Amino acid sequence: MSAAPGRGSIVEGEFVFTADDFRQIAEMLHAHAGIALNEGKAALVYSRLAKRLRTLGLSSFRDYCALVEGADGIDERQKMTAALTTNVTRFYREPHHFDDLRDRVLPKLVERARAGGRVRLWSAACSNGQEPYSMALTLLSVLPEAADLDVRILATDIDPNMVAQGHDGTYSEEALEPAPATLWRKYFNRSDRGSWTAGPQLKRLVSFKELNLIGDWPMKGKFDAIFCRNVVIYFDDPTQERVWSRFVPLMQPGATLYIGHSERVAGPAANKLQTAGLTTYRLGAT
Ligand SMILES: C[S@@+](CC[C@H](N)C(=O)[O-])C[C@H]1O[C@@H](n2cnc3c(N)ncnc32)[C@H](O)[C@@H]1O
Repeated sequence: MSAAPGRGSIVEGEFVFTADDFRQIAEMLHAHAGIALNEGKAALVYSRLAKRLRTLGLSSFRDYCALVEGADGIDERQKMTAALTTNVTRFYREPHHFDDLRDRVLPKLVERARAGGRVRLWSAACSNGQEPYSMALTLLSVLPEAADLDVRILATDIDPNMVAQGHDGTYSEEALEPAPATLWRKYFNRSDRGSWTAGPQLKRLVSFKELNLIGDWPMKGKFDAIFCRNVVIYFDDPTQERVWSRFVPLMQPGATLYIGHSERVAGPAANKLQTAGLTTYRLGAT
């Protein structure tokens, strides 16, 4: 049963949650993941983290903050980030990007791949894999032999649970519904539980890795297209600008960047990335 807010508590509930606790959690999340939280999110933070407090047997948010900030807090910091981020995604979300990929980007890349060249795509903040598998299905629709060529899709996310789900590649039929049926029925296999699992060609095309967009990026090779959608919306403006700028040197001349419907490229990268359609940018040839 909910108690009345305790002394200094800003949210009603079983644990005291002060403005100071909120500020500390917001600072840790910003430092770890680049995500900016305003005080309007206090109730959300409370409800998402109360479960963690119960699991850990802690009696206050103050103890929780001390644990996360402490030397042994790395693991919990990751769990806190996972609890506070949203993983909402869909197959073929914002479908115009997949049309652009198929009709305007892939024709040249298909030619290059068939001539033995290297093609690389990146789903940066891939959630549970529905975005990179949508990219892979689009690719297979025009290049059925893609998995046998030097063509790969890197799929990264900060949340290890999302990376594991993507690697597993199992989805309900309902989740797959927005994808073209002829494609997903061909490249996913029905699994025992009545759901569908990515088949060998999809698994060979897409590699899942944990990566923090505000951390170190080990990749050296350049990409022909980057999908970075519906994640920087949670970052503050300077962090967003840094992410856009870091993409530029990792893009081939003429490469495409797809971003979320409520995002826009700003800062120094905006001079290099030209608008090429709805939330679609291309790197000018240099
Ligand atoms: C709303 S989902 C978007 C998924 C997909 N791009 C789409 O548009 O459907 C946001 C994803 O960003 C991830 N994320 C949040 N902060 C991140 C960071 N600093 N680095 C990498 N991924 C991050 C979350 O774990 C989550 O899976």
